[in-house]
Amino acid sequence: MEKADLYKELEQQARNLLGGERDPIANAANFSALIWEMLPDINWAGFYFRKSGWLVLGPFQGKPACSRLQMGAGVCGTAAAKGKTLVVADVHKFDGHIACDEASNSELVVPLMKYGTVVGVIDLDSPLFNRFDQEDAKGIEALASFWVLASADIP
Ligand code: SME
Repeated sequence: MEKADLYKELEQQARNLLGGERDPIANAANFSALIWEMLPDINWAGFYFRKSGWLVLGPFQGKPACSRLQMGAGVCGTAAAKGKTLVVADVHKFDGHIACDEASNSELVVPLMKYGTVVGVIDLDSPLFNRFDQEDAKGIEALASFWVLASADIP
């Protein structure tokens, strides 16, 4: 399947999956599972939520990961602090990268934006170098916006 079609399908399935559910954890759990099922060459997919200056682990698929990341540190913390999507072709060249799974070689982190503030991130890791491009970034950004719209605030 072409990447553009894959992301159209992913968003459609996300819409179908919600069925009016507003619980943020339930929706994050299902979105992680959907990304995991649909995107090839991914070894970790999940959510971190912003809580008192930290990013705290939310629902995910993949190996157990760091429970808590500092805002501004690593790929997730940098994306969250800047409110910007980060596409990292080689995580070993990213200053401060935090290795939760040694198999990860590239990474995509998309901030979850609500009312102009960052409430968390979606993080995808791949064992391939240069796995993610701008099309992946746009596709996951659309999914992130949809999660924010569909879900109530994180408690
Ligand atoms: N690599 C991330 C940490 C989270 S894990 O990849 C699940 C980072 O540098 O922020």
